[in-house]
Amino acid sequence: HFPPSIRAAAALWPSESGLMSEGGMRLQKILSRAGVASRRAAEKLIAEGRVSVNGTTVLEMGTKADAASDDIRLDGRRVKSAETPRYILLNKPPGYVTTRKDPQRRPTVIDLLRGVREYVYPAGRLDYDTEGLVLMTNDGDLVAKLMHPRHGVERTYEARVNGVPDTDAIERLRTGVPLDGRRTRPAEVTLLHRGHTDRDSLLILTIREGRNRQVRRMCQAVGFPVRALARTRMGPLRDARLKSGMWRDLTADEVQALKKASGGEHKPRKSAAKNAKKKRP
Ligand code: URA
Repeated sequence: HFPPSIRAAAALWPSESGLMSEGGMRLQKILSRAGVASRRAAEKLIAEGRVSVNGTTVLEMGTKADAASDDIRLDGRRVKSAETPRYILLNKPPGYVTTRKDPQRRPTVIDLLRGVREYVYPAGRLDYDTEGLVLMTNDGDLVAKLMHPRHGVERTYEARVNGVPDTDAIERLRTGVPLDGRRTRPAEVTLLHRGHTDRDSLLILTIREGRNRQVRRMCQAVGFPVRALARTRMGPLRDARLKSGMWRDLTADEVQALKKASGGEHKPRKSAAKNAKKKRP
């Protein structure tokens, strides 16, 4: 049981998170939350020109930033958010945007995450009309690595398309189709089954990029427009039993697998880290 003062502080959270989504949190608060300095001392650090956000030194006291996605540095060293990392797998229904806030005021994936207090945001996007798995996290480093084209994390989609793609169309999807003047990278494509008639069929596609509306545009480009699209796998993450609109935290094994898929984690052993620190360049 918390004393009244703490309960009162907790009650302040909702308005605070509203403020954050409108453009971040005050820099001195981020620094103090990250355990860098007290808020007063953090203000001093800012005034002294020792704090930068995304490469620009910040001197103005009211400046806001986003602890999860901005590159905040003190004396050139990255300040890590003190928030506990949270990794959530969401099965997005159609009709939701994958952003924290939509200028058009459509429902967002955040509306589905009731009870999640961490400042999580989506790793990559699914179209408004597309359903399926979305990773939501406050681990900005992981998101940056995961989304980097270099790692080519696999994403698998089920696409219901108009008509029945012939072998030629499937081969073109596999080898790559030009979109905006650049070919898509090789994909795995399976025609899973035909519909009851020749009117539609189901394609399973695994791609290693995340270009805008990529699957829809690929299928359109070979003459078989997508009617409905669902993502069923993202890297090591899959869950056929997670119902539409529901979410769950990743297991520790899934988090490990995800970190591995994103290029691995460089976590030297403690003793090694100590030695590394002592060494002078
Ligand atoms: N490809 C698409 O066309 N849409 C998505 O949402 C994801 C991949």
